[in-house]
Amino acid sequence: MTGTGPDDRRIDTTRPHPARVYDWFLGGKDNYPVDEELGRRITAIDAGAPKAARANRAFMRRAVRTLAEETGIRQFLDIGTGIPTEPNLHQIVQSVAPDARVVYVDNDPIVLAHANALLRGTPEGVTEYVQADARDPLAILRRAAEVLDLDRPVALSLIALLHFIADEDGAHDLVAGLLDALAPGSCLVLSTMTADFEPENVRRGIAAYAAGGVTLVARSHAEVGGFFKGLELLDPGIVPVGDWRPDTAPEGPVSLYGAVGRKPGPS
Ligand SMILES: C[S@@+](CC[C@H](N)C(=O)[O-])C[C@H]1O[C@@H](n2cnc3c(N)ncnc32)[C@H](O)[C@@H]1O
Repeated sequence: MTGTGPDDRRIDTTRPHPARVYDWFLGGKDNYPVDEELGRRITAIDAGAPKAARANRAFMRRAVRTLAEETGIRQFLDIGTGIPTEPNLHQIVQSVAPDARVVYVDNDPIVLAHANALLRGTPEGVTEYVQADARDPLAILRRAAEVLDLDRPVALSLIALLHFIADEDGAHDLVAGLLDALAPGSCLVLSTMTADFEPENVRRGIAAYAAGGVTLVARSHAEVGGFFKGLELLDPGIVPVGDWRPDTAPEGPVSLYGAVGRKPGPS
């Protein structure tokens, strides 16, 4: 488990943090009153917010299971991991392939504080946690390369991460930079917020997050497509997360797109 210094470990309970608000939506216990307050405010605007968090988590499970089962990928780089919530990504992919190697990355000290739960993997596989900021892809790649063989395909997952990073803050460059460094056959899995379906609720939700000091960005279908430039989209393409290869009846529409793309070339 690696971090960048003691200051990274300070947990600020005076303002809401995305990882902890999301934990509250998922019914977790690793959140503080400020997080619950924002969670309740968002739920008052959009009663479907906890449902969207569950649908997003279920998308993550289906997408990484699909990659482990159907593409043979055995290396996973998950950025914006969040507070551990079972089943975690490594538990899913190592149940398919016990030798799978997983690197988790988040920049929130609360995730670092709970990272031990992310490190209990199979004896045949590897799990590692790196505390780093997604806006520093070179540092992430350097750390990831200590565990993953970047000459072989990697599944890069950015799940419910990119809506916290504006285009002006380098969202597209960071995705392109990470993909450039990965071998052909690597895959990008992402989900991110959209205002395509419920513009007014999403606008009010963004305003509530902003009042809590958290930047959120909604992206259109075409804007999400921009992250997949040069990749081959797996079926069914860019769709609301609940519609990506559902294995149970979706709980209803949610304002998050999800998709999986593959970097072309022999793997
Ligand atoms: C909504 S949670 C999603 C957790 C998990 N990926 C999932 O979908 O279930 C977003 C996570 O992204 C992390 N995050 C936000 N901005 C980040 C950044 N710039 N660098 C690294 N992690 C970031 C937050 O700390 C939080 O844990």
